[in-house]
Amino acid sequence: MLFSGKNGKNGKNGKNADVAGNGGIIEMRSLRKVYDTGAILVEALKGIELSVAREEFVAIVGPSGSGKSTLLNIVGCLDVATEGSYLLDGEEVAGMDLDQLADIRNRKVGFVFQSFNLLPHITAFENVEMPLLFQGVGARRRRERVEELFEQVGLSDRMHHRPVELSGGQMQRVAIARALACEPALILADEPTGNLDTTSGRDILGLFEDLAGKGHTLVLITHDMALAQRTRRIVRIQDGRVVEDRPTTQAA
Ligand SMILES: Nc1ncnc2c1ncn2[C@@H]1O[C@H](COP(=O)(O)OP(=O)(O)O)[C@@H](O)[C@H]1O
Ligand SMILES: [Mg+2]
Repeated sequence: MLFSGKNGKNGKNGKNADVAGNGGIIEMRSLRKVYDTGAILVEALKGIELSVAREEFVAIVGPSGSGKSTLLNIVGCLDVATEGSYLLDGEEVAGMDLDQLADIRNRKVGFVFQSFNLLPHITAFENVEMPLLFQGVGARRRRERVEELFEQVGLSDRMHHRPVELSGGQMQRVAIARALACEPALILADEPTGNLDTTSGRDILGLFEDLAGKGHTLVLITHDMALAQRTRRIVRIQDGRVVEDRPTTQAA
């Protein structure tokens, strides 16, 4: 049980001293992904090389259909590559079966989606509590941890509201708290501001900036270049390949 094994250590991620080697948290080599639709084969990723170190804050940008979501799904162990190597926090993901994939995903990755994906019939508190329940964390520790998470995302006064009573920006804060609950080594966000107005979108980026400054490793997809510039590194994907990979002005 990841969470209970780390009781008392809050906030800081990606500092697993037990991981062998000194590679990054993401190490992809010659990664290819081919979708077989039956009628045709779609080569969505055509040989991706990507390394992301602990505590990096990276934006993945690129035109629609360029392979961003495919890449993020593989990074997050929601899907596997057709070819190539992918080490996540030192573990080779290529060749894992579905159970192993689910296991590493639950241990290592927190997801934030464009559409928030909150359960509508339970409160914000209960949404964030859910992954802790699945991890077998006891009631008292769960409550402490959830309260701490709401404080972290600046939404303590809305904990007991249902998603329908919250704004889009507030719902995304809840989703981020949920993604953080089990202290994942890696937080992945696919267009986290895509359903938000400009102000709420900037606001959510501000929260990611805070998290990045506190030692989390964050990878987000966005097609808003103004938001991408607020990360520390921009990786541009085009037609299944990395065509640009550069630090932003925030990198220093
Ligand atoms: N499940 C799938 N089956 C077949 N083709 C897919 C599937 N998912 C994505 N694709 C194709 O792979 C390419 C990359 O898609 P995607 O990763 O969703 O791009 P992006 O997120 O950059 O818009 C596109 O040509 C898309 O049509
Ligand atoms: Mg996409």
